[in-house]
Formats: sequence, structure tokens, C-alpha cells
Amino acid sequence: LKVDASQKNARKIPDTLFGIFFEEINHAGAGGIWAELVSNRGFEAGGLNTPSSIEPWSIIGNESSISVETDRSSCFSRNIIALRMEVLCGDCPAGGVGIYNPGFWGMNIEDGKNYSLVMYAKSLENTELIVSLTSSDGLQNLSSATIRVAGTSNWTKLEQKLVAKGTNRTSRLQITTNKKGVIWLDQISLMPSDTYKGHGFRKELVSMLLDLKPRFMRFPGGCFVEGDWLRNAFRWRESVGPWEERPGHFGDAWGYWTDDGLGYYEFLQLSEDLGASPIWVFNNGFSHYEEVNTTTIAPFDILDSLEFARGSTNSTWGSVRVAMGHPEPFSLKYVTIGNEDCSKKSYHGNYLKFHSAIREAYPDIQMISNCDGSSKPLDHPADLYDFHVYGDSNALFSLRNKFDSMSRSGPKAFVSEYAVSSNGVGRATLLASLAEAAFLTGLEKNSDVVQMASYAPLFINDNDRSWSPAAVVFNSWQQYGTPSYWMQTIFGESSGAEVHPVTMNSIYSNSLAASAITWQATNNNSFLRVKIVNIGSNSVNLIVSTTGLDASVNTRKSTVTILTSKNLSDENSFINPTNVMPVTRELPNAGEEMFAFLGPYSFTSFD
Ligand code: AHR
Repeated sequence: LKVDASQKNARKIPDTLFGIFFEEINHAGAGGIWAELVSNRGFEAGGLNTPSSIEPWSIIGNESSISVETDRSSCFSRNIIALRMEVLCGDCPAGGVGIYNPGFWGMNIEDGKNYSLVMYAKSLENTELIVSLTSSDGLQNLSSATIRVAGTSNWTKLEQKLVAKGTNRTSRLQITTNKKGVIWLDQISLMPSDTYKGHGFRKELVSMLLDLKPRFMRFPGGCFVEGDWLRNAFRWRESVGPWEERPGHFGDAWGYWTDDGLGYYEFLQLSEDLGASPIWVFNNGFSHYEEVNTTTIAPFDILDSLEFARGSTNSTWGSVRVAMGHPEPFSLKYVTIGNEDCSKKSYHGNYLKFHSAIREAYPDIQMISNCDGSSKPLDHPADLYDFHVYGDSNALFSLRNKFDSMSRSGPKAFVSEYAVSSNGVGRATLLASLAEAAFLTGLEKNSDVVQMASYAPLFINDNDRSWSPAAVVFNSWQQYGTPSYWMQTIFGESSGAEVHPVTMNSIYSNSLAASAITWQATNNNSFLRVKIVNIGSNSVNLIVSTTGLDASVNTRKSTVTILTSKNLSDENSFINPTNVMPVTRELPNAGEEMFAFLGPYSFTSFD
């Protein structure tokens, strides 16, 4: 394998090449990275007709001791449903009667940690509520406090810190009382106090994202942006402002309710916290089963979203952002107009309306079309075009050459969704990660026409595997990276690096894929990295010869990092989270002429 590391033949890879695609799918956000422990916190999930289902809330007590139903008495006009609880027992059972919320498949309550409870209540008479964190059967008490509610016809905001005196991974929040009478409850939130930067994100999941060194974050979908029906599409406007005032919505694309605590603002905040450029995918008039035609559609809603992100502190929407705690504009420079909607009848017309309005108001914003510009030139203006690819390992391995023969002019590709998977069904095996690694070496080589790429989906809550596989699997308290996640960490230094031409003996063209970069470490040293995927069942001995190496390159001990396992079908799991993960060791024989051993089914990175 020959690497031409000379400056004259090197090409800079875009700073944005590798990033992440965060979709609200598989409970990635609600019950995922968004640390809120209560599900259906405003009792809105059952719909507007009352009484409605209060799932996953349940009742503590029986028909003779308590009556619970929803009504439309909330003090919040955008989410009008509240809970009316009538305590019938004068001599209630010990612990009282009331309601409990199990969160998302149980709350992870940890010994010594603080939890912040906020809720709204109304009672015409003075009363008391006991709030407690308990085991799923209510028998183990982890923390509790009594809150006085003053009798008034107004709603009162109640706040209580709870400190856990034990650990239980499947806990619940209970709100009970012993006092006969009627009390209304609404907007009940329980947040752990140790979220990332205090911004409400689960720290351990953020940490896994940081390790990918993402240069951009595409959000919030995917199909989540469209919904099956437009009434269930993501609406940014309803997801900003005080959390208590957000109506929440049923995301019918993936079949679950979200309180929208993780809203448009929080997505922008998460991108900023990750040091990733936000890419806002907005709905331009399409759900899976409907379209708004071009004569009817108007881009004003999206212009408002851009003003929210970037507008001055005294602009209408900029001031909403300021009130939420972010006076500085967010650095929003990319938007995608729709998701997978190119074939829809009104897409072109709608696209052009949004495109011209955004271009006029925000000339620097890069706009991404849903139409595939790799097969034929686009017939509309765009800075980039979306390219989604899911397929088996053979398909992804072959697609490493997809962009080799493409025209070098015109809008660049944003490979915003790629994975070895078949329509949401698949396993995150070593084989999948090898095929994907090969595909990414092809994107590095073609990074003059491919500007960005992200794996999809990013997260799976183990309790909701709507779309498998994903890069990171988690439950309420554990997480692990799949081989595809670990594979991506080996590309973490590629964005902004220089890519070098590589040539390989053609006998290996069906089993090997390779690329070479030089990347800058923080200490200003640059390193040559040669990555080689061996998807074949035989080991391979190669001579890697490098020419044109700059003397300043390789000033530390060289290393080799290998991602492999015994079987191609090997995966990671909660029981064995590190079964397939990269191992790094020193490389004593590094040099311009170097013997390289590539084990069968392996991805090797020589640094
Ligand atoms: O990544 C899962 C889904 O695949 C996305 O929501 C959609 O864009 C694609 O079809």
C-alpha cells in the first residue's frame, strides 16, 4: 500500500466532515439524553378530550378512597389539561392516596444525588402533599418531603429538593395526601441536579457524543420532522419558552409522546455544548401522508425560527431566546429544507419559496436540498444535497467508491444518514462497522465533493427499539457504544485534516479499503494516520510505504489501533459493553517502509 504524504498532493478535508444526526427516535431525547424523569408531566398525552388517559401515571388507592380524572382547568393556555384528584377517605391508608409516575421504564434514582421537583397545584383549602421517590412497588422509600399547599383558587408553583438515600434503577415519583378534599395538579417535573453544564442533558450520554468529536449536529429528524400526519410534526414554536407552557406532542412517526422539554432551544444548546455546528431540519409542508401545496405554503414560521436562533436581543424571537438564558445568538449556519421529501409533488415549489426567503434574510445560511445531486445535477439552487443510505454490508462496502466518478462541480453531498441496516432492522455487529468504515474511507477520499456525513440513528433506548441498530444503546442508567460507534471514534480526527492519495495492489480491491490523513494534535504536532479495513476472512501482510513525509510528522511514539473480534457477528451489550472495541498499542516498527499485519475482519489505524 503506497501513501503519497507529500504536501503537493494533499487536500484539506472540510472542517465539518464528520458529525452526528440526533433524531427523536427510539426515545433518544424524551427518556434519553433529556434528563427529565417524569413522563407526561402535564397530563397532556391523553389528548384534549376529558377525562383522558393519564398514562404512564397510575393511581395509589381504590375507588372508595380516591377519584382521579383530567379536566381543562390548567393555568397554562397552551396545555390546558390538568389533573383533578378528589380524596374520598377521611381515614386514609398509611402513606396516603394519590398518584405515581414511573418515568420512562423506571427512574434512575442514585444514592446521595439531588433531584429537583417542580409542580403546580391548586386547592381551595389548606392541604398537604407527600412527595416521595420510591421503588417501583412503592415499598422502598428513597426520599420524601411534605409540601404545604395554601388554600386559594389560584394555582401555586411548588418546588422541592429531594436527596436520595439509596439507589434504585426503576424508581417512581409518588404524590400522595391523607387529607380529604379536592386538589388539582399540573406540570410536574423531576430533574436530577447534575446534568451536563446544568443544561438538562444526561452527562454520560453527552460524554459519549463528545468522544466522537462531532463537527455538526443535524436535528431533530428524520421522520420526526415530518410525522405521519402534519398535526403530529415537530413544531419548533411550541417547543420554546418556559417548559411549563409547552404543549408537547405525539410524534406519530415513531409512535410516542414527547413533552418537548428537549425543544428547539435545547437542540441548539446541545449543539453548542458539543462544539458542533447546528443543522436545523425543518418541515416545509410535508408529512408522510400529506402535503401543503406551494400556493398555500409560506416560509414565515421558519424565518421566525431563524430569528429565534440568531436574531438580536430586541427582535421578537431573539428576545424569547434571551429570556431563556442565551443572549448571544446561536451559530446556526445550515438548514435542511424537509426530510426525504424530494419526490413529493410540491417539494420543488415549496423548496424554492423557503430558499428565496431565507437567502434574502440570511444570505450566509447554507441550504440543503432533499434531492439527490449525485445521480443528476440539481434543477434548483442549493448549497448541499442530502444523501441517505441504508443497506447490507456488501452495499456499504461497495459504496465506498460511490463519489469517485461524480462531477466535481455543483452542490456538495451531505451524507446525513448512513448505516448497515435494512429499513430499521439490523444488528450492530463487527461486520456492520467494517463495511461502514470502508464507506467512510471513501468519503474522506471524496471529501472535495462530500462535505458532511453522519451515522443514523444515534441513540436507542433499549426499551424502545423502533429502529435498530444505532450508535449508542442506553437505558435509564447504563450505556454502551456499538462497534459502529467505536468505528466512528477512529475517524474523529479526520474533519479538517489533510487527505493523501493511497494506492493499493488490486488483488485486495474486494477485501481492503484504505485512506491516509495527516491531522493536527492540540500540541501542534501533526501525525500521519493510515486506516485500513480488512473485510476478508484471511489475514493480510502488507508493506505500507510512505513518500513525501514531512519531518515534523510523527514526533511521538507511533501507535496502532485495531477494531476486531472473534466473529463477524459479535456485538456489544449491557453485559459485555466492550466486547468489540478498539485496542491501541505502541507500534515499534513504524517508518516510511513498514510491515503491516491486518487480521481477518479488522479495522486498523496506524498513527
Ligand atoms: O434514521 C431513521 C430514519 O431513516 C429517519 O427518520 C429517516 O430520515 C430515514 O428514513
